[in-house]
Amino acid sequence: MQIAIINGPNLNLLGKRETGIYGSESFENYFKGLQAQYPAVTFTYFQSNIEGELVNYLHEVGFSYDGILLNAGAYTHTSVALRDAIAGIKTPVIEIHISNVYAREEFRHTSLIAAKCVGCICGLGLKGYQLGVEFFGMTDI
Ligand code: DQA
Repeated sequence: MQIAIINGPNLNLLGKRETGIYGSESFENYFKGLQAQYPAVTFTYFQSNIEGELVNYLHEVGFSYDGILLNAGAYTHTSVALRDAIAGIKTPVIEIHISNVYAREEFRHTSLIAAKCVGCICGLGLKGYQLGVEFFGMTDI
């Protein structure tokens, strides 16, 4: 099974950025643990602060991978281009948010990508990525 994890803008700062909201673990460290936990899964990890690079990467993995876990960061709330990219690929995408966006500012309550994703995991911290892996492992979609 091949799963791509894609993180959008500012998520390269996990562990250092607003730790009260996002925690103090770096994604690189979390990702190592995730790989160790699921040795049968081939993971790729891609992070970019640039919207077009996220679109390009969705195109790259979106016709051959089994699942994509996408934390689009702030682009979740603004990006028609990411929504169209998700709609245009074959691989199912789960929308991930570390924080509970519904308990935060109102502009975070709108997701332009949600309708094109199979589902959303939100507010469960970094654990949300693992829950997404579990879903792809258990489900035939
Ligand atoms: C986020 C929530 C977004 O609103 C925010 O812009 C982020 C991170 C999350 O993982 O909780 O950058 O996607």
